[in-house]
Amino acid sequence: MQNDGFIAVFDSGVGGISVLRSLVAELPHERFSYFGDSANAPYGDRSEGEILRLTHNHVETFIDHGAKAVVIACNTATSVAAASLRAAYPDVPIIGVEPALKPAAEAYPGGNILVMATPVTLALDKYHDLAARLDKSCTIHAVPCPALAARIERGNLDAPDVRELVESYVGAYRGRVDAVVLGCTHYPFIASAIRDVLGDVRLFDGGAGTARQLRRRLAAVNELAPDTEPGAVEFSSSLDTSEELALYRELFSIPL
Ligand code: DGL
Repeated sequence: MQNDGFIAVFDSGVGGISVLRSLVAELPHERFSYFGDSANAPYGDRSEGEILRLTHNHVETFIDHGAKAVVIACNTATSVAAASLRAAYPDVPIIGVEPALKPAAEAYPGGNILVMATPVTLALDKYHDLAARLDKSCTIHAVPCPALAARIERGNLDAPDVRELVESYVGAYRGRVDAVVLGCTHYPFIASAIRDVLGDVRLFDGGAGTARQLRRRLAAVNELAPDTEPGAVEFSSSLDTSEELALYRELFSIPL
């Protein structure tokens, strides 16, 4: 882990790399340290108490190593732990992600919007508060996809079983929705399987919005890296094998 002034970005596993891509595109001069808790993924199957314990451990480590900001690149962990992490570390900007329902509803007033996410994200108040604030003309179809993040953790995302799993969750919505909100940061990596199942629908994820929020928060505390800095990205994982880190690097650079 880098010594100081870096931005820690974490997820239960590989999913947050989809957010990291947006962060680096928005803030190319920053130093990012990505941590995937792949040994404990998926968080969507865990209790709130376990997610709180895991996320507090990670953030304590990042801050001990000198992180200037933390991005919770996981909808599930944000829903469960963002408020308590912010209360524990009030001096460090802690940015979460949330399902991109608002941009989807703004783009399709009166439309049918499908939300795919983990069961934990869809069960918690944060999601229900977000949905309650939307334009009432939209119809929201929220579909929990319990096994999807765990399957994405295994890589080999062009394999037929990925499409079959997506079909089993959302095949019934083919031709019935205008937009799909990817409410789990793992799902952008299977965008092509989702399009294969649902046809020509627009996909929304929270990456770009999170990146803009990180920029605003760093600017507010005068912590943006100068544009003379080269920027850097490093990866670590609780599943510390060379295969796992190779998968992280592959997902960071594959075309989506
Ligand atoms: N990538 C995560 C999210 O955005 C978590 C998936 C999981 O670990 O269940 O919700």
